[in-house]
Amino acid sequence: MLPEGTIIPTDKRYNIPLATVIERDDLRHEMILSDELEAHFQRIEKEYVARERLAHFGLKPRKKVLFHGAPGCGKSMGAERIAWNIGLPFLKVRFEAIISSYLGESATNLKALFESVRTFPCVLLLDEFDFIAKTRASGQDVGEMHRVVNVLLNLLEDYDAPGLLIATTNLEDTIDRALFRRFDDIIEIPKPGKQEILRILQTTLSSINVSKSVNWNTLSDKMQGFSAALIVKIANDAAKSAVIQGNKIVDKEHLNNALAENTKYNK
Ligand SMILES: Nc1ncnc2c1ncn2[C@@H]1O[C@H](COP(=O)(O)OP(=O)(O)OP(=O)(O)O)[C@@H](O)[C@H]1O
Ligand SMILES: [Mg+2]
Repeated sequence: MLPEGTIIPTDKRYNIPLATVIERDDLRHEMILSDELEAHFQRIEKEYVARERLAHFGLKPRKKVLFHGAPGCGKSMGAERIAWNIGLPFLKVRFEAIISSYLGESATNLKALFESVRTFPCVLLLDEFDFIAKTRASGQDVGEMHRVVNVLLNLLEDYDAPGLLIATTNLEDTIDRALFRRFDDIIEIPKPGKQEILRILQTTLSSINVSKSVNWNTLSDKMQGFSAALIVKIANDAAKSAVIQGNKIVDKEHLNNALAENTKYNK
């Protein structure tokens, strides 16, 4: 729930909200990360929690964070987990509502959105924010999109709201280098390593019994290079076929079949 009186600005022409609120109960937050990455996430959370103590020493918490890395490895989920852990409302920016074909309106929309969070503590997610950079290349008025990128650069630079801003991209190469400099922290979220693969499989299968014949070691070796999303899908597919067959136990066959079937979507 948002604090009473909070208004999400809308696009003036069609009255579409410029951001979507995701309720706390719907935030994905049970992430499996390497120790190093977990510590990196926790540092952001701890700095936010300690913001008043930091302020006594003239210090500011990390507020503007960029996640980059391969698809399906936890960039969007990472933003949700941070909001969950620090207990802030979660707002996801709707670029399709922000970007307007009418001259000047995209910039106006962006400014209105940033203005609305100036006094409203929340996690503002600019998910796949390369959308703006991409739009510049794909037929929109070039001059206009250039202005929109510049407006975004300025808004990022000046952002000093009471919450956090998290941006994600998996196309770091096509992003304006100037955008990178605006962030307090840039975190690469890589594909899961062997330990993480194992933990993702076991966590996903934690509500069903798994046969003792399953060799976790061999299984996770076969999934090296897979995205976290694909590993979750394989585990769920195996569990579902066990249940559909009337088994209460997931065995090696279920897992191997799900693995073979999903390997074509790798990685
Ligand atoms: N670190 C993780 N631990 C556990 N599950 C994960 C993790 N990362 C991703 N997943 C699973 O993969 C799904 C997709 O993750 P997410 O949406 O965060 O990917 P993404 O990096 O934002 O991908 P994209 O670039 O395609 O937007 C999650 O809903 C979750 O099931
Ligand atoms: Mg994502």
